[in-house]
This record gives sequence, structure tokens and C-alpha cells, in this order.
Amino acid sequence: MKKIVLTGDRPTGRLHLGHYVGSLKQRIELQNSSEFDKIYIMIADAQALTDNFDNPNKVRNNVIEVALDYLACGIDPNKTTIFIQSEVNELTELTYYYMNLVTLNRLQRNPTVKNEIGLRGFNNSIPVGFLNYPISQAADITAFEATCIPVGVDQLPMIEQTREIVKSFNNIYGNTLIMPEAKVPDSELEQRLPGTDGKAKMSKSLGNCIYLSDDEETIKKKVMSMYTDPNHIKVSDPGQVEGNIVFTYLDVFAKPEDFAKYLPEYKNLDELKDHYRRGGLGDVVIKKFLNNILQDFIKPIRERREELQKNIEYVYDILKNGTNDAKIIANKTLKKVKKAMMIDYFSDDEFLKEIIDKYLE
Ligand code: TRP
Repeated sequence: MKKIVLTGDRPTGRLHLGHYVGSLKQRIELQNSSEFDKIYIMIADAQALTDNFDNPNKVRNNVIEVALDYLACGIDPNKTTIFIQSEVNELTELTYYYMNLVTLNRLQRNPTVKNEIGLRGFNNSIPVGFLNYPISQAADITAFEATCIPVGVDQLPMIEQTREIVKSFNNIYGNTLIMPEAKVPDSELEQRLPGTDGKAKMSKSLGNCIYLSDDEETIKKKVMSMYTDPNHIKVSDPGQVEGNIVFTYLDVFAKPEDFAKYLPEYKNLDELKDHYRRGGLGDVVIKKFLNNILQDFIKPIRERREELQKNIEYVYDILKNGTNDAKIIANKTLKKVKKAMMIDYFSDDEFLKEIIDKYLE
């Protein structure tokens, strides 16, 4: 069986460090591992419209922003097919057939959807399209016969829903669809990077993000105003490391060579943490250290993005070519699905034979 990766993002904003740590980093590793026969990354504009249907400009503008972020942080169009969801109309058709296999109750039980309904204030008037998006996600995944879906933990209920649809489809119509598996980051820290304000998740709507395209000044400002330990007031006070976001980020981003480069008085993060706990280490020192590390990390991404922006027709062509490739694959799967469901009337010679036998003999 072929090993195929598919994943995607809703284009509702530029991508940030949470996206990078929770998913982009893994995708780039998978892409460069040469373990997979094919890798797809989808810009899920149709899904973004399920809760932004009244704001089509936002979705349209962010399609390019997200594509720029992908390419800037190392998604290589020679190894990975990047495409736009809505242009692959086969996905909509698959969704329509899969809808028969899922109950309303099942959709309403999806914990991620439940949470999002609350956040968007949809409680008493849930748009059908929104509730339905896990089914369309099953179409995205199965259309490309994807086996490996690298996602953040909040997406696990979607993959579970897809697996149920695959099972049910194959039971009813015969073995047709490929069973996918989710792949989440190994460490809990990477699964959910907190925001700069200490809140559980980095999220655009909470305004606590550091973007992969932020300029130097912006990054510095965000780092210097990060949440630390509210009881660590004087430098001499003992400080808490747990729940201190600067240390959380250092856990994720600090490498041994960063100490040699920026804080040679400490050998490693443990020594730095010990000093902070004892007291005598000010927040400014650890924030400056983190700032240096994040600047080093984001600078090449930002610079590549600026190059790509100057070459925007190249980015357009990548999306256009990727989408064309994706359509060919999705169409093959749609044909298989229609055949299995016996709705392939004109591409199936048997159909004509059947009706002749039935009505003319
Ligand atoms: N729901 C995903 C998100 O919000 C985006 C997405 C759409 C996706 N279709 C997908 C992810 C298929 C993985 C596989 O980020």
C-alpha cells in the first residue's frame, strides 16, 4: 500500500509559532524523510467559509498568506503538492455521498465542533455547513487515499469521524476507501503551545500569537511583554518556572548552542531554571535570551517570505499546478466511489446491458 500524507489549514490568518510547533515542523520532517510516496497540503478555503461565509474577502486574502507561510518555512513544492480545496469540486461531491453515512447526533457529539460552536456563539442556530465540516474533511482525506494525517490534537475527532466513514462505506459498498491514521506531535508541549499571555493556546482570536512573518521589533515587543511569574517581582525573589511562558518557550526553542552564543554563563536550560528558582535572575535576562533565539528562528523564514512576495506569480503557479494535480487524483477516487455506489451509469457498459436485458428481451 502506498504511504500518502495529507493535511491542511483553514486560511483565516497568517500562520504563527503554534502552527509551526504543532504541525508545520512535523510536515517538513515528513516531507524530507523520503518515506512517503506522496504528500499533499491543502489550503482549506471551503472549510474556512463554513464559519466565515459572510467574510469571503478574508478567506480569499489568506489563501496566499498561508501559501507564503508554507513555502517560507520549508514546504518544498517539488516534494509536496499544495492545493486549494474549493477548486477540487470532487471533494464536494464526495462529501454529499458521505453525508448519508453519518447521523446528526454523531456530528453534534464531536468535541472540537462542540467547542467551536460555543466559541462562535452558534448555539441556537448552527449553520448546516459548519456542523457538516467533519464530513467534508473525510472527503479531503479519502480523496487522496491518505494514510497519514499529521495534525494537532484538536483534530483527532475529525480523523476519528473519517475512520468511521471509511469503515461504514467499505462495509456497505465494498472495499474502496483507504483507512487513515492521525499523527500528532510526540511531546505535549508541542501539541499545544501556549499563547504569549499564558493562556492555554496560541490563537489569533485571543491576540496572543507570534507570527512567522512578524518583524524584529514586533517579536521583541511581544517577548518583552510575555507572561512570566506574577510573584517574581524583585530580581532577588525566587521565581517559578512551571507555567512561566518564557521557560515554556525556551523548553521548545532553546538549543545547546544558544547558551554558548547568548548566555555563556549557563551550560544549559536546567542551570538557568535553577538560578531562576533560587532567585537573583531577572525576567529581562530570560526574555532577552528568548528574544535572541526567536529572532534567529524567524528571521530566515521572514526573509524567504519577502523574497517569495517579490515573486508572487511563482507562488500563484505553484498553487495552480498543485491544484491541477490534486484534481486528477480526487477524480480517480470519485470514480471509484461512484462505481462502488452503482451510480456510474454512463461509464459502466453493464448498465446498458442490464436495461436491454430487462426491457427488450
Ligand atoms: N480542520 C483543519 C484545521 O482547522 C483543516 C483541514 C481541513 C484538514 N481538511 C483537512 C486537516 C484534512 C487535515 C486533513 O486546521
